[in-house]
Amino acid sequence: MISPLATGLHALAALIWVGGMFFAYLILRPAVGGIAPPPERLKLWDRVFGRFFLWVWGAVLLLPATGYALIAEQYGGFAGAPIHVHWMHGLGWIMNGLYIYLFFAPYQAFRKAVAGEDWPTGAASLNTIRRIVATNLALGLITAAIGASGRYWGWIPGS
Ligand code: HEM
Repeated sequence: MISPLATGLHALAALIWVGGMFFAYLILRPAVGGIAPPPERLKLWDRVFGRFFLWVWGAVLLLPATGYALIAEQYGGFAGAPIHVHWMHGLGWIMNGLYIYLFFAPYQAFRKAVAGEDWPTGAASLNTIRRIVATNLALGLITAAIGASGRYWGWIPGS
């Protein structure tokens, strides 16, 4: 009973977070790069982050909550969980840790710089955010592929 709901929410949370990073990094960033002058570009990213990060917080809370519910119901705990679930768990917490750092360190510095019209500091913070998002995007794509395909890894020991 819990599994269909938890699986649906888990997949949606992964989709929104990873899909949002994919769009921001690979579509929006190159698209605005050549158009908007630096102050306008930083103001645009400030608005984008203000909206997107609310959804990311939802994903950061939902992914472990629904993941642990699935582990309890499907596998009776971590001891009975297959190898791909352990990989997803580890990678998921690295992603969460990177996001929490991004939110409380470079993102707060970025917001403060934009509010104070300190564009060089804003650009430096944005660069840090960009590198963390690139890392989390790569980890998120790998983790989603592991989560969705792992049940078919019968030939791998521990699966
Ligand atoms: C604390 C972190 C996490 C835990 C404990 C967890 C746990 C789980 C479990 C138990 C399953 C069911 C797997 C199976 O029975 O084969 C699952 C599926 C899945 N997970 Fe995670 N997960 C976590 C984080 C993530 C993250 C960060 C992503 C992607 C960014 C992700 C993406 C997926 C996907 C795409 C599925 C397949 C859903 C489906 O179609 O059935 N998970 N996860």
